Amino acid sequence: MTAFGFEVFATDGAARLGRVHTAHGPMDTPAFMPVGTAATVKAMTPESVASTGAQTILGNTYHLMLRPGAERVGRLGGLHEFMNWRGPILTDSGGFQVMSLAKLRKMSEEGVAFQSHIDGSRHLLTPERSMEIQNLLDADITMAFDECTPFPATPEQAAESMRLSMRWARRSRAAFVDRPGYGLFGIVQGGVYPDLRAESAEALCGIGFDGYAIGGLAVGEGQELMFQTLDVTTPLLPADRPRYLMGVGKPSDIIGAVLRGVDMFDCVMPTRSGRTAQAFTRRGTVNLRNARHQDDPRPLSENCACPACRNYSRAYLHHLIRSEEILGPMLLTWHNIQFYQDVMRGLRAAIAEGRVRQFAAQALADEALGDI
Ligand code: GUN
Ligand code: ZN
Repeated sequence: MTAFGFEVFATDGAARLGRVHTAHGPMDTPAFMPVGTAATVKAMTPESVASTGAQTILGNTYHLMLRPGAERVGRLGGLHEFMNWRGPILTDSGGFQVMSLAKLRKMSEEGVAFQSHIDGSRHLLTPERSMEIQNLLDADITMAFDECTPFPATPEQAAESMRLSMRWARRSRAAFVDRPGYGLFGIVQGGVYPDLRAESAEALCGIGFDGYAIGGLAVGEGQELMFQTLDVTTPLLPADRPRYLMGVGKPSDIIGAVLRGVDMFDCVMPTRSGRTAQAFTRRGTVNLRNARHQDDPRPLSENCACPACRNYSRAYLHHLIRSEEILGPMLLTWHNIQFYQDVMRGLRAAIAEGRVRQFAAQALADEALGDI
C-alpha cells in the first residue's frame, strides 16, 4: 500500500508541477477536481469523467450524511465502490455546506446543529462526527471541519471565526484515523486580513497536516483581493505539502492561483454552467441558448477532443438546449470538464518547460478576444 505523499518535480516562479499519491492512485498537480456532491458528477458517468483526464473527484459530507447516509455508504463498501469511481476522492467536511443549505442552524463550540434541507430531520455535525463520516465514505483526502468566514467580516469577526476553525482543526487531527494512503488537510481561514491568515497558517503547521487548503475565498471579495490574500498565504505553507484553494473558480482564477503556488482546485462552475448552456472555450464563455448558433454547422470548439466538439455542431447543441433535451446538459458538462482538464494539462506542461507566465498571459489574451 502506497503512503500518502506529495512530490514536486519542477517549479516555475511560485508555480509547482507535482503529484499527490493516495490509496486510490495518483493525482498530477496543478489539478482540477470535478464536483461530485451527491455521489455523482451531475450529468456525467464516472467513465466519461475519467476520459477527460480528471483523476480525483470531490464528494460532500453534508449531502451524503443526509442521503443515502454515511453508515449505508460504508456498509456498501465506501464511496468508490458505491459510485464506481476508482480514482482518488476528496470529501469536504460539511461546515461550508451546512451554512449555505441547512435550515435552523445553531453554531457552538461543539459544532453545528441543523435541520436537513431535504426532510427537516435534526443533525449535529462536529469535528469528530465529520472525521467519522469521511472515514465511512473512505475519502482518500479528508478535510478538517471548519467554518467558512463570510465576506464581508470585521477583523474581530474574522479572528473569532478563524480561531474557532483552528480549535476544530486540532480536534479534527485528533479524531482522524491514520491509514496508509489516506491524508488529512487543514484549512487556512482569516478572511482578507494578512495577519489573521498568518496566524491561521502557523496554527495549522503547528498541528501538522498532509496538505493545506485555503478556505474562505471566492465568497464575494473579488479576484484582486483573493490574489492578494493568496500572495500573503501560500509563502507561509510548507513547500513539501500540497496546497488546495477551495471552491475556485473561473479559468483565470485558477491560472492566477497556480502562479501563486496553489496545486489543487474544485468548483461547480464547469458542471453547473454546463447545465445552464454556458460552455467554456479559449475565447471565453459561450451561451449555446443564443440564437446566433441556430444555423452554425461548426463545432463548439475546434481544438477540443470531447464528444460534444468532435461529433456535433453548435446548431445541434443549440437545438438540444432549446428543446430542453437531457443530452444538452450532458454534452456541455462533458465539454466543460474536458476544457478545465485541458487548461490544467497546459499549465503542467508550461511549468515543466519554464514558461508558465507566458502560458497565463496567452490564456488571458485569448479569453479577452471573445468568441467568434
Ligand atoms: N468550500 C469553499 N470554501 C470553503 C471553506 O472555506 N471551507 C470548506 N470546508 N469548504 C469550502
Ligand atoms: Zn469540447
